[in-house]
Parts: sequence; structure tokens; C-alpha cells
Amino acid sequence: MSEQTSPTATAKDRVVLAYSGGLDTSVAIGWIGEQTGAEVIAVAVDVGQGGEDLEVIRQRALDCGAVEAYVADAREEFATEYCMPALRANALYQGRYPLVSALSRPVIVKHLVRAARQFGATTVSHGCTGKGNDQVRFEVGITSLAPDLRCIAPVRDLALTRDVAIDYATKHDLPIETTKHNPFSVDQNVWGRAVETGFLEDIWNGPTKDVYTYTDDPTFPPAADEVVITFQAGVPVALDGVPVTPLQAIAELNRRAGAQGVGRIDIVEDRLVGIKSREVYEAPGAIALITAHAELENVTVEREQARFKRTVDQRWAELVYDGQWFSPLKRSLDVFIDDTQRYVSGDVRLLLHGGRAVVTGRRSETSLYDFNLATYDTGDSYDQSNAKGFIEIYGMTTKLSAARDARFGVGEAAALAGDQA
Ligand code: ARG
Repeated sequence: MSEQTSPTATAKDRVVLAYSGGLDTSVAIGWIGEQTGAEVIAVAVDVGQGGEDLEVIRQRALDCGAVEAYVADAREEFATEYCMPALRANALYQGRYPLVSALSRPVIVKHLVRAARQFGATTVSHGCTGKGNDQVRFEVGITSLAPDLRCIAPVRDLALTRDVAIDYATKHDLPIETTKHNPFSVDQNVWGRAVETGFLEDIWNGPTKDVYTYTDDPTFPPAADEVVITFQAGVPVALDGVPVTPLQAIAELNRRAGAQGVGRIDIVEDRLVGIKSREVYEAPGAIALITAHAELENVTVEREQARFKRTVDQRWAELVYDGQWFSPLKRSLDVFIDDTQRYVSGDVRLLLHGGRAVVTGRRSETSLYDFNLATYDTGDSYDQSNAKGFIEIYGMTTKLSAARDARFGVGEAAALAGDQA
């Protein structure tokens, strides 16, 4: 036998915890330790929550008993690798929701897995309840990237209720406020903001002013704002001619479209777990960008590709909503979407006013819009006489079956013939 002692023989199990710096996850650090005997490593990922400084959060994690704290400013990564693919997919779940929370989970998952590897953890933990989509997104994401890691959710699996958390924080004198009563549950990042619970759970109640922070009231807008967004292969590269990174484009449009009250969404949505829930979103930058991008696609993407892409876009949004960011189907759809974006380059002029983002102009070197084909004025290069033969052949199968229906007295044609008799 060698002299070597196994370092894991006496070492404690390690858990990486997705840490926000708030009450629940601050208590979860000690709670997980007590309930499982494991050491906890706190992982805080900045995706543009706009809250406290990462260093403050790191220190609080350590003060609450974490053995290590891993913090990452992932805003550029989130904007470039998560928000931009969503933009290229014009991703709107149920045609309305730009996937704000759903997009942030996979980037947080990546950092959780990285931290787990770095610190030798066997388990990943998050602060979600058992009722929402986010638990699924975290755990399916973890399984996709690291099938060997286990998952545990203290609120769901270890009975860490709100009351227990307040008692625990008070008893252990944790450096976190327990008295602050937040009327809503909020999740926010660079791509937008999601607000639910409380008074909004009565779906007849209209959102009050205090729900919103990314947008101003569109009822009393300032003078209209006009912005020209330049895209290169489906991604914004300049605003009013000034080069921007994806993160800068989103942030700047959050500000400008937000000032006009663009991107407020009030929706009852279908959660993956089967519950219908009411959520209020504000995503001014995302809605402005998707509006402009979708119109540039209208100008630059070939008709059949564009029609098919609408189906793909919808499926992409559902997959991402359902926690399938790292799934094989999502990956395959990405390849299709990437291919469609080759010519999605050019400028879109967007008028921002009174809660709306309206396209008023588009131009592109890679446009399929042909003025001479489209015009009703001089310069027309479209030979209208071709249309006659086209319609004759295009309508052939309908004509044949209609004639048969008439013989058998079936359908509208027969009914109309009867009227005549
Ligand atoms: N309903 C949204 C989703 O499933 C947001 C979830 C988090 N919302 C919140 N207000 N905490 O993606």
C-alpha cells in the first residue's frame, strides 16, 4: 500500500448554489449545510439584474457561511450568446413573451457547472420553488451539461419556506434584510424584466405603476424618437451609425424604447408544469430589436425559407421556454436559423412612440425587394401576361375537384348552383 491518503475520504460533499444575494439563497447556504452536511459554494452570475455589486454579493455569501464564492460578470456573454440567438429567432413565447428568464437560466447553468468542476462539487442547488419553469430549466440544463451532477432545491426539497428563512436569518444574525416586504416576485436581466405574484394573481387586476421600472408610462410619452438600427447577419452592429456591441445595443434600446413605454406585456401564459400563470413583462430593447429584425427578414429572406422559419422560430421559443436550451432539437434548429441569417443585413428605421415601435423604413444591399418588379409606375419589369397562365395551372386541381363536387351536389359550389336553379 502506498502512503497516499485519499483526500476525499474525510472531505465533505460539496454543493454549488446559484446565489442571488437575497434572503432565500442567503439562508439556503446554511440550511443546505445543516440538512445535508455538505459544504456550500455560492455562485453569483451577473446577467444584468442591476442589483448590488458582485463583490458585495461575494462577501455576503462568505459571511453567510459559504466556503467559497464564485462570481462572474456574464452580461456580454449573455447578450451575445443567448439574447442574439433569441433575436435571430424572433423568439416570442405564445407570440408575446421574449423569454427573459428562460434565456438567463442556461448561461447561469454553464457557470454553475464550471464552478462545480472547479471546486469538486457533486451537487448543484438553486432557489426555485416546485411550481415554476425555472427549476426545470436549471435541472434539465445541468443534466445536459453534466449528467453526473445531482440537483437539490432547498425551497422544494428541504422545506425552506419564507417563514423558516426569516426565522433562520434572524436567529443566525445573517447580514441580510428580513423585513423588506416585496409585493411582487421579480426576475430581471439585460433582455427584460418579469413581474408576478401578489396583487397580479387576480388576473382582472390591472398592473399598477409600481410594477414597472424599465419603461415609462406610454400614455404620456415624450416627443417621438427615431432610431436607425444596422444589422449584420441578423445581429445589431450599429445604432444611428454608431457601432455597438450586442450588449450596448440592448442597453441603449432599453433606455430609448423604455422612455417611450415600448415593450410592456401583460399575459396569462402556459407554464411547462401545466399551470396557467399571469406575468407582466417589460422588454423595451428586446421588442424594438425583434420588431426591426423581423422586418429586415421580410426584405431579405426568400419566401419559402421565411414561411418555414416562422414555424421554426415558434418551436425554438417553445423549446427554450421549456428548458431545452442544450437539447439536440434546439441545436438543429439553430443551424437552420443561422443559415437563414446570411443576408439579414442592412438598416431599419424605427419610430418609438406611445408604447409602440413601428418600422418606417428599411434598406439593404442584400435585399430581395425589386423596385422594378413591385412598381405600378413606369419602370415596371414584371410581365403581367405571364400571370394568366400561372393562375390557370395553379388553380387546376381546385377546378377539377370543384367540378366533381358540383356533379355530386357537394359543397359551396353546388349550393350556389342550387340557388340559381
Ligand atoms: N414566467 C416567466 C418564465 O417562466 C418568468 C419566471 C420568473 N418570473 C418572476 N417574476 N420571478 O420564463
